[in-house]
Amino acid sequence: MTLQSYLQLTLAILKPDVVKSPFVLKEIRKLIIDNDFKIVRTRRTIIGDDEAQEFYKEHKNKFYFNRLLTFICSGPSDIYILTSRNAITKWRNLLGPTKVYQAQYSAPNSIRGKFGLSDTKNAVHGSDSVESANREIAILFKDFNIKKWYENDEVYFQSKKLIFDPHLFIHLIDKDLDMPKNYGVLN
Ligand code: TYD
Ligand code: MG
Repeated sequence: MTLQSYLQLTLAILKPDVVKSPFVLKEIRKLIIDNDFKIVRTRRTIIGDDEAQEFYKEHKNKFYFNRLLTFICSGPSDIYILTSRNAITKWRNLLGPTKVYQAQYSAPNSIRGKFGLSDTKNAVHGSDSVESANREIAILFKDFNIKKWYENDEVYFQSKKLIFDPHLFIHLIDKDLDMPKNYGVLN
C-alpha cells in the first residue's frame, strides 16, 4: 500500500436521536477514540432538507424515504470526518446492521444494537465505500479538499503529531513538533 493511501477517510453521522441523549453521545464518542480513529473535521448542525435529499438520493424511491428525511432533519447531528487505517470497514463494523432488531440479535454490542431505537432512528451513519465517503464528504463538508488533505495533512495523522481537543472533539495538527525522520515507514 502506498504512503498516499495509508489512511482512509470516512464520513460518520451521529444522528439526532444520539445528539439529544448526552449519555449515548458520550459513549459513542468514547468508542471512536478507543478504536483509534482520529477526528479530522467535526460539525454540529441541523442537516438541511436539500443536503439530506442529496445525501440520501439513492433511497429516493424507498418506502422509508420521507420518514428518513424528516428524522435526519429533525434536530442537530454530529458530523465527523474520521480517519484511521481501514476506517470505512472499521466504522461500519462498529455500527452494526442497519435494522435495529437485526442488530440487537446478531450484533448486540454494536452501536446500533446498543443504542438504535428503530430502523430509521438507528443512531449512526457510516460511508460504505471510498466512493461513498468522497461523495458524502463533499456534500457535508463543502470546503474540505480530500486531495489536499492527502497531500498536506495525512502525514501528520500517520505520525500522530496531533493535539486532541476533547471539547470540540477534533484532532488538530501540531506543526510545532518535528516530524520524525522515518515517518514514511509504516509500523
Ligand atoms: P441503508 O443505506 O440501507 O443503511 P446504512 O445506514 O446501514 O448504510 O439505509 C440508509 C438509511 O435509511 C438507514 O440508516 C436508515 C434508513 N432506513 C430506514 O429508515 N428503513 C429501512 O428499512 C432501511 C433499510 C433504511
Ligand atoms: Mg447506506
